[in-house]
Amino acid sequence: MSEESRPVGLAIIGAGLMGSQHATSASACPEITLVGIHAAESTQSKALAEHHGCHQFGSVADVLRDDRVEAVLVATPTDTHDELAALAMASGKHAFVEKPVTRTLDDALVLRSVARSTGRVLGVGHVIRYFAEYRAIHAAVTGGDIGTPAVATFGRRCQQPDWSPDGWHTDMARSGGVAVDMLVHDVDLARWCFGEPTAVHARVVGSDRHGGLDYALATLVYEDGPIVHLHGSWAEPEGFSQSAEVCGSTGMVSYDSRGRDELVVTPHASNTGVTALPPPPAGREDPFQSQLRDFAGAIRGGPAMPSDIDWAIGSLRIALAMLESSDTRDVVELEPLGALFDREAAASLVAAGATKGAVR
Ligand SMILES: NC(=O)c1ccc[n+]([C@@H]2O[C@H](COP(=O)([O-])OP(=O)(O)OC[C@H]3O[C@@H](n4cnc5c(N)ncnc54)[C@H](O)[C@@H]3O)[C@@H](O)[C@H]2O)c1
Repeated sequence: MSEESRPVGLAIIGAGLMGSQHATSASACPEITLVGIHAAESTQSKALAEHHGCHQFGSVADVLRDDRVEAVLVATPTDTHDELAALAMASGKHAFVEKPVTRTLDDALVLRSVARSTGRVLGVGHVIRYFAEYRAIHAAVTGGDIGTPAVATFGRRCQQPDWSPDGWHTDMARSGGVAVDMLVHDVDLARWCFGEPTAVHARVVGSDRHGGLDYALATLVYEDGPIVHLHGSWAEPEGFSQSAEVCGSTGMVSYDSRGRDELVVTPHASNTGVTALPPPPAGREDPFQSQLRDFAGAIRGGPAMPSDIDWAIGSLRIALAMLESSDTRDVVELEPLGALFDREAAASLVAAGATKGAVR
């Protein structure tokens, strides 16, 4: 077997919703060998490792000292991503981090510096472009099928996330609420289809009120482009759905995973916990597996992942601008992304390197 085709040895840190998803996708991916799983919640990692017939690591240190592990996939709460991924790269491993890349922009800039100084591949889980439906929307918009795009409405809705034992999702300081945790996907789609917006205006309920229910409504401003309107909800009665619609000068393209066309009133189910994302329709490749294939390819010398750290920072800063706009009740202007990367602050933050105690 040539070096280029040798499967990448992967360890997953985190065994909740996304750790489970990635373990399933990695197990089915010929470009990956799932070596093992670690999670702070050891009952979760034990069950998941047993299910996939791989090793249960007892600690992050055990993961990092295992020579079979070439890459570490971080699927833990958002505020722990930076430290775990930085440690992995500093230990010589490649890293893949779930979206949003980090909870704060400063943490993301530090991670960017670590990736550059270690020369490791750092992929980020912006999975939108691996969904067939979103690919079709992107192709229609950029291929001229609907003429000049004029208005876009992108949204995603989920029941209040209650599946984590420590409730980190609804802690704004840890997750950023629905604007950062969910709408970062739709920001991603908007940037992919239309490029960089110049300003953001948003109103956000905030998951630290109303018992964890949350709602965010944002407008991305494009000076010479479409009106882009994003809405995200953690107030659904149950389950998850996503939708996108773009109207242009000659047509409209739309997608709605709910597939409903009649008025339906649904009472809230008692939240019993989401344990898995909906499987892809029969015959369609799992988008998370396609994403892992790109990650493995980048490690083996193929093209860089489209969602590298620079891309992820571009999406994170817009999601964070939604929170700022909602707090200040004002429009937030966005500086060009290149200017952000040039700022001296990034380098000095690397030197600081303070630990936040995420390593367990
Ligand atoms: N790409 C997507 O569509 C998508 C969907 C949902 C969540 N996410 C993202 O995935 C990440 C994980 O979300 P989730 O819903 O799976 O969370 P979760 O609460 O279900 O699982 C978190 C896991 O991390 C473990 N953990 C927590 N802190 C740890 C630490 N310091 N060291 C080791 N293990 C630790 C927990 O024990 C648990 O196994 C978040 O960043 C979230 O925003 C992405």
